[in-house]
Amino acid sequence: TQKIIIDTDPGQDDAVAILLALASPEFEVMGITAVAGNVPLSLTELNARKIVELAGRTDVPVFAGCDAPLARKLVTAEHVHGKTGLDGVELPQPSVPLQPIHAVDFIIDTLREQPSGSVTLVPIGPLTNIATAFRRAPDIIGRVARIVLMGGAYFEVGNITPAAEFNIYVDPEAAAEVFASGAPLVVLPLDATHEALTSRDWVQTMRALPGGCGPAIASWTDFFERFDKEKYGNQGAPLHDPCTIAWLLQPDLFEGRDINVEIETEGRFTTGMTVADWWRVSGRPANALFLRHVNRDALFDLLTTRLARLP
Ligand code: BDR
Ligand code: CA
Repeated sequence: TQKIIIDTDPGQDDAVAILLALASPEFEVMGITAVAGNVPLSLTELNARKIVELAGRTDVPVFAGCDAPLARKLVTAEHVHGKTGLDGVELPQPSVPLQPIHAVDFIIDTLREQPSGSVTLVPIGPLTNIATAFRRAPDIIGRVARIVLMGGAYFEVGNITPAAEFNIYVDPEAAAEVFASGAPLVVLPLDATHEALTSRDWVQTMRALPGGCGPAIASWTDFFERFDKEKYGNQGAPLHDPCTIAWLLQPDLFEGRDINVEIETEGRFTTGMTVADWWRVSGRPANALFLRHVNRDALFDLLTTRLARLP
């Protein structure tokens, strides 16, 4: 099994990513660390606990991390995810407690305690917790197996500004530090995730699953897809964050290149842009596997088989 820590700001698509991981025996989910992003931290940590409870996995510890970006004011995305961050389904107040340790300490301690190279970080929100852990404990950087993150965009450009994707835009300084850290990076940008669009059939399949998780996924998708319909004329909701877990399960579903990716932190119009050297014109060394396409049908087959195992 692969040991993973999911760093998240749920978020309907974060919720599906977490559920996909919990439904997959290939993973040992060591912990879920919440960060401020789609909504403030008090809601993202609460949502994370609601999700583990929904999955019947109260054994998975949830930690709260940073409540604001390293150097900027928090930008949130209620316009996409609703007021709670998880609009679409009303979930009960969770019984799982929030762990008494800060998420950043949990990340540092876990990477120090576990054998070097055995823990993968899966950030699917702004990179504040990860950058803070790396700042505070640079010794852990070399111990990370890899970082598989959802963030950025290049050919598909931005969803929060014309140039930037939300997760990177919210904390570009954190992203810049993580991309420069030297830890092996796998990046799932909008280029790939905008191909991961739900279909009506798939949503119906989820809704028809016995148990609580399938119908919740269906209702979240209904809520979440409204934004993309209005904005991009897309049919369906892009399942951004589940692409990270799907890549870990089946990397051959994705196509990309090892390239240099730099984060713009000082742009007049381009702050938070992931400057991806797709054509390798900069001479700068590759620091990321940048995934540009996904096999949509195979991805949704994987999602269906896995999510059907949930209670
Ligand atoms: C990313 O931003 C968030 O709103 C989603 O959860 C995803 O992580 C997409 O840009
Ligand atoms: Ca997210």
